[in-house]
Amino acid sequence: MASYGLLDLLSLNIPQLCRWAGCFCLLLLLSQAYKLYLKRKELINQLRQFPGPKTHWLYGNAHEFRQDGKDLDLVAGYAEKYTYAYPMWLGNFFASLIICHPDYAKTILSRQDPKDDFAYYFITPWIGKGLLVLSGQKWFQHRRLLTPGFHYDVLKPYVRLMSDCTKVMLDKWDRLVSDQKPVELFHHVSLMTLDTIMKCAFSYQSNCQHNSENAYIKAVYELSYLVDHRFRCFPYHNDLIFYFSPHGFRFRRALKVAHQHTDEVIKRRKESLKHDKELEKIKQKRHLDFLDILLCARDEHGQGLSDEDLRAEVDTFMFEGHDTTASGISWILYCMAKYPEHQKKCREEIHEVMGDRDTVEWEDLGKLTYTTYCIKESLRLYPPVPGVARKLSQPITFCDGRSLPKGAIVLLSIYCMNRSSSIWKNPEVFDPLRFSPENSSERHSHAFLPFSAGSRNCIGQNFAMNEMKVAAALTLKRFQLTPDPANEPLKVPQLVLRSVNGVHLYLKKVE
Ligand code: HEM
Repeated sequence: MASYGLLDLLSLNIPQLCRWAGCFCLLLLLSQAYKLYLKRKELINQLRQFPGPKTHWLYGNAHEFRQDGKDLDLVAGYAEKYTYAYPMWLGNFFASLIICHPDYAKTILSRQDPKDDFAYYFITPWIGKGLLVLSGQKWFQHRRLLTPGFHYDVLKPYVRLMSDCTKVMLDKWDRLVSDQKPVELFHHVSLMTLDTIMKCAFSYQSNCQHNSENAYIKAVYELSYLVDHRFRCFPYHNDLIFYFSPHGFRFRRALKVAHQHTDEVIKRRKESLKHDKELEKIKQKRHLDFLDILLCARDEHGQGLSDEDLRAEVDTFMFEGHDTTASGISWILYCMAKYPEHQKKCREEIHEVMGDRDTVEWEDLGKLTYTTYCIKESLRLYPPVPGVARKLSQPITFCDGRSLPKGAIVLLSIYCMNRSSSIWKNPEVFDPLRFSPENSSERHSHAFLPFSAGSRNCIGQNFAMNEMKVAAALTLKRFQLTPDPANEPLKVPQLVLRSVNGVHLYLKKVE
């Protein structure tokens, strides 16, 4: 067989070399194109049994998403037509099955498929391999170690912290109402939920609601923004392009600040816990926070979490624990403004339960029945996490016999299910009484999933519900809310459900 050495190559003339290089590039291109062709063929085969909306020859369905506040209604509209599930193409070589029926949701959530890598890929450099992205045995071990952190004994003292943080926000609003201009709430609420999670996660007094110039707060904000920006900007999906871009530079700079801060907090707490290694002893001195639980957690071999695992979990709580609740609280306040008759009923209930007090007590939470129905109805119409994605580790067969092979990506659309007329009567109507025990009893177990379901459900759901109740109760007690018709929010899924133009409301002091 002939083989060419360097000397042989040098003996070739330039045009010959160019021809060789050209042939090589062409072969490379052809092999890449063939791989893509096979990938597309495989995807078409996978999704053959699922009819769906028409696709553009180049963009698939990607061009239909314009981030103009109508994207979610578009997917919900498709869900009306394709009641169980339908394929969605982003370009020609990436497609996932959108699930929009509780029977399908039940099948997918009763399995142990890992999260889709793509969905969390951009956030992993920040939150590391924490509970949200882990899978398999390690996820199981972490979940078991962290579950005690959400026991009601631990959550109880947080209610006062939540009240304190909400009051700081309301005091700020007190000063703003004198302007008689609408207030953009989302920004204020995000700072408040960040303040709350920092107090609850590691007893850190950041003062961030007054001083958003704090380096760590700025880094957390910057990271949330940049992760989202990268997700929406297709060229940035490439690691190399992102790395060398100005956004990539900003991302690394913020990452360094955030990680240094988390490491420092963990180090300091480790020092202070040197003498008190048992939770019971710490509890006698002060209330426990997540960091105590994380540092004292031991598996059956007496092994604690590694430093890297600790940081990942703290950063995961930081991320999951503030953006989601900020979304939930902003949308419930918007719903209250939009539906004044329900706002009035909630305010009456809040007055009855709290009397003259301006701090919510743990015991109040269970008595705010109508307010809780309203929060659930707001989570239905405006779910903070609009969907969850999985990559199938095994083939799946759904209740109607249709199937998908291993490796397929499915996206359970919580938003579509919540707006489906096959599940909810008059789905667009805000009707909190849907959640009364009588009206809920007949509902499918997987029809309402704001916190997902099954083994990978939201570990922080009680924390989140408590925080939403505290924020709604204290706000309605102090302010009357009315919408700003000139600035209706345009909902858009950006990591969590946000509004492109913010959430603007008029606030008036309650007499
Ligand atoms: C309204 C607020 C919240 C909503 C709607 C929400 C919703 C969800 C959903 C839908 C999931 C499943 C994600 C998936 O399968 O990919 C999830 C997981 C998770 N949530 Fe939440 N969440 C909220 C607040 C919180 C809070 C306050 C915390 C922590 C303090 C938290 C911590 C987590 C964690 C760690 C996971 C991953 C659990 C696991 O995979 O084992 N969440 N959340």
